[in-house]
Amino acid sequence: MKKATKWVIEDAEHKGIYWPSAELKNKAWVSDTAIYAQADKDPPAFWAKLAGEGIDWYRKWRKVYEEKPPHFKWFIGGKLNASYNCLDRHINTWRRNKAAIIWEPETTGARNRVLTYYDLYLQVNKFANVLKSLGVGKGDRVVIYLPMIPEVNIVMLACTRIGAIHSVVFSAFSHQALNDRIKSAEPKIIVTADGYYRDGQPVNLKPNVDEAVAGTNISQAIIIKETGKAIKMIKGRDLWWHELMAQADNYCEPEVMDSEDQMFILYTSGTTGKPKGVIHTTGGYMTQAYWTTKWDFDLHDEDVFWCTADIGWITGHTYNCYGPLACGATMVMYEGAPDYPQPDRWWQIVAKYGVTILYTAPTAIRMFKQYGDEWPAKHDLSTLRILGTVGEPIDRAAWMWFFEHIGGSRCPIIDTWWQTETGGILINALPGIGPHIPTVAGRSFPGIRLEVFDEAGKPLPPGENGYLVGKSPFAPGLLRGIHHDPKRYREQYFVQYGNDIYFTNDGAIKDEMGNFRLTGRVDDVIKVAGHRLTTAEVENAITSHPSVTESAVVPIPDDIKGQVPLAFAKLKAGVQPSRKLAAEIIERVDKTIGPTCRPARVLFVSDLPKTRSGKTLRRVLKNLISNQPIGNITTIANPQSIEELKKSLASEANK
Ligand code: WT7
Repeated sequence: MKKATKWVIEDAEHKGIYWPSAELKNKAWVSDTAIYAQADKDPPAFWAKLAGEGIDWYRKWRKVYEEKPPHFKWFIGGKLNASYNCLDRHINTWRRNKAAIIWEPETTGARNRVLTYYDLYLQVNKFANVLKSLGVGKGDRVVIYLPMIPEVNIVMLACTRIGAIHSVVFSAFSHQALNDRIKSAEPKIIVTADGYYRDGQPVNLKPNVDEAVAGTNISQAIIIKETGKAIKMIKGRDLWWHELMAQADNYCEPEVMDSEDQMFILYTSGTTGKPKGVIHTTGGYMTQAYWTTKWDFDLHDEDVFWCTADIGWITGHTYNCYGPLACGATMVMYEGAPDYPQPDRWWQIVAKYGVTILYTAPTAIRMFKQYGDEWPAKHDLSTLRILGTVGEPIDRAAWMWFFEHIGGSRCPIIDTWWQTETGGILINALPGIGPHIPTVAGRSFPGIRLEVFDEAGKPLPPGENGYLVGKSPFAPGLLRGIHHDPKRYREQYFVQYGNDIYFTNDGAIKDEMGNFRLTGRVDDVIKVAGHRLTTAEVENAITSHPSVTESAVVPIPDDIKGQVPLAFAKLKAGVQPSRKLAAEIIERVDKTIGPTCRPARVLFVSDLPKTRSGKTLRRVLKNLISNQPIGNITTIANPQSIEELKKSLASEANK
């Protein structure tokens, strides 16, 4: 690897606290800590300035911020269009011919594509006209079930261009998960592909779509030909993308959207098994997407930005689409598996396109670390200057490996904390300010008020572990509701500490400097390889098996994925546990949610520990499995279940 000295980060006292070098500071958009105090004096005034400078508005807002907790609005009366901000405003400048998306297919060869801003603009306009011609208009929902191909951005931008609300569903989700989301979002149209490549093989997507769409109100499915494998087209419903695009006009006037008009819905896991449709609106989301992309990653025009997240997650929405495009950046998009055909694929891509900013997940870093240092060492990674992580806490070993072997000990790592609900990053150390400390995410973004509370709602002093909460004025990009479920919005985020405090459901510790260390979810959400799911979702899939009467799922630590689900299953009277049954149960999870959520093991039990009100004590199970003290069990209704569990765990261990 070439040694570059330009961006050396200084670990002056060798305490594992890294400060930006003078070069980094000089280049950075933000390098003066005074910004935090300035912003905090009057967050709405601060955000108004950012919204005015970063986003093009058709009409300026009458009022910056208004709240009636738990509801709030930003840039009231302001008018804008997200697609205009990502495209139109660039095409009359020198950025017209700048690469917007550099697409790397999994199978190398002639499939590589580079879309300039003008290319993207034309395609988005055309597809916006296609959608209109099929009767899609402002406020209508469009479900997108697409792999990592540039068309996914084209469809998203075409939706926001005409004011349609997109809902992207992760392409590795099962047909049942897709069906659940379609039933909730009620779209007229789904946009999908025949398939995509994964591990060198074409994966068919269309059969999933056929199953998921049957019996719903979807009238049209638009299909992109990606693999070219033969598929069944349903007459009157299925339409080919390329046929529609060939006839479409190349200009579509952007719809003038209100700042608080819905922009998209994205489903994520909540405390129950039913996924919730998180609603984001236009003005606040775009403002936060633009500024967090620019400042958090210190993104400049000459950068090559690569966020490895799938578009099916919020990270993909904000940092693989709206943020970088609103900034006029060049971004890399990769279709396939990170280790195909070999474990150096990512490093090859970094070298091939001269990636300067790489944003990824701790789980990927742990995987590459396990593959060995020799893989990145084969490639010139000296173009990299900023690294980022997201999705779960990063452990020190993974941080150090990323820092040394990928960043050549010269690139700051920004550990970014946020959620589907927050729309954009809320916590990280800024590259021109620092400090970058392994396992510590950093300060909240200027103008964002976060605090650590105890159980009772009292702010905790530095060093004490508590609950991370958001205070008014709420972040511009924070969710505005749950689709069709206002009650759930309140119950999930605004009952723990009342209407005027947003409860993140994360644990955190703050230090004297205002840096946050995140300590993990405090609810039943588990993070498997950065993917968010709830124990209840997995349990529902398991109990859908006719032989299972009850199930409980707990997270167990995993070296690469961070956490994996472990399943306890109670069988119907007379049914004998067997390997075959365990395999069937796992298959249920694969089919109903997707293989990402697959339990590591299924343990058959005769009873599950319960409270008197019938709630399963997952905490007890978690402690049992990890050989921790069981803890307070005074509320337990069936203490004998514990002894039985211990016995069956012991016999399991002997197998
Ligand atoms: C949950 C949100 C935000 C985009 C991807 C995940 C955990 C996220 C970090 C981090 C520790 C983190 C939290 C959060 N999380 N980033 N840097 N350090 N934990 O979005 O699927 O909505 O998950 O991910 O627990 O609540 P999501």
